[in-house]
Amino acid sequence: MFGLENCGGRELENLNEDIQPGSADSGNLSAIRQLLRRHSPSFRGGAHLLKTGFTKLIGCSVPIQQAGMAALANPELAAAVSEAGALGMVSVGGFPPEKVTRELELVRKRTLRPFGANFLIPGLTDEDIPEVSESVRAASKLARLVEFFYHEPQAELVKIVHSERALACWQVGSKVEAGAATDAGCDMIIAQGIEAGGHIRGRIGLMALLDQVLSKTDIPVIAAGGISSGRAMAASLAAGAAAVRVGTRFAAAEEAGAHPVYQRALVKSEAEDTIFTEAFGTGWPNAPHRVTRSSVEAAQAFQGEEVGQRYVKSSDEWAPVLRFQPIAVTKEVRGNVEAMPHWAGEGVGSVKSILPAAKIVDQLSDEAEKLLRRWSSQSFG
Ligand SMILES: Cc1cc2nc3c(=O)[nH]c(=O)nc-3n(C[C@H](O)[C@H](O)[C@H](O)COP(=O)(O)O)c2cc1C
Repeated sequence: MFGLENCGGRELENLNEDIQPGSADSGNLSAIRQLLRRHSPSFRGGAHLLKTGFTKLIGCSVPIQQAGMAALANPELAAAVSEAGALGMVSVGGFPPEKVTRELELVRKRTLRPFGANFLIPGLTDEDIPEVSESVRAASKLARLVEFFYHEPQAELVKIVHSERALACWQVGSKVEAGAATDAGCDMIIAQGIEAGGHIRGRIGLMALLDQVLSKTDIPVIAAGGISSGRAMAASLAAGAAAVRVGTRFAAAEEAGAHPVYQRALVKSEAEDTIFTEAFGTGWPNAPHRVTRSSVEAAQAFQGEEVGQRYVKSSDEWAPVLRFQPIAVTKEVRGNVEAMPHWAGEGVGSVKSILPAAKIVDQLSDEAEKLLRRWSSQSFG
């Protein structure tokens, strides 16, 4: 499923090693690295890299996909992740076609690397399909991968993605849904375990789900749920996943645009501080999700209906945030931010600080690669 390949070449490795911090050349180091990244798509500090069905299909150098995360998965974050060699995603669910194009062009301006578009489509009805189809078409013209979540797989939407020559992907939570996504013509599937942050389709742990899904389909499977460290990434790849999908860890990236109160809560939390709940169900009931326990407790303790406001750019207004409303806690919210949903997966204990997205990509892939290399040399000599 994956291979450890030397893709940098000695010249690139030497160049990287020869330029020492503080030397006359070091001022140009970052510019040189930028150039190398651009011209050698698989270059990452001269390292050996993990190649999988995912990296080959997408054309990226690292088998990591940043999760769609509503307004937190903005063009800045997606571009930074893609520039670092992984797959950045922008959430465009609910946007009209012109806005989808505008958002994705913002990514294209920042990177020439592949990136993706995420459509969160709960409650999609047959009547909605024509309208959503146009937004999906707009996304498929610019994105390498277009993915969907929180609805049964729809062949009609997959066909639109393919008609614009993009790849289609569905995030699923069960073997049955994985079969339906394969039958709908998807090129990849995301298997989301119950450890995940945000809304959760999976009802069992990621490893058990991977086992079921990998036996059901031959298309590449991306593992999601609680993956915030290189160790969890290595385990998923070793189990047969073609890539890992990472949400919570990137919610704590500098570029994510998450509110500092929320990001600080992620840094302070451990796996045991998250809960699987339906608490944040105002306007979207019966939709289980994982958040920090403290955000549920703060909302329970809050007196009143409106915990704060959020800025709505399209109308240039502050709209109310209701108690238990499932919103993305961006920098553009105000009020009792502690009582807003602090989405967090069980990997949250690995969030130790707020880092640039590129650093997160490097940490995860370097650690996973080291572990897999060590395991492989110990086990096979
Ligand atoms: C803050 C946050 C917002 C999310 N919003 C979305 C979304 O808009 N669309 C989507 O497909 N998944 C969304 N998810 C779920 C992710 O796709 C993914 O399954 C999850 O982040 C993986 O688990 P992890 O957070 O433990 O890495 C969200 C997750 C988080 C943490």
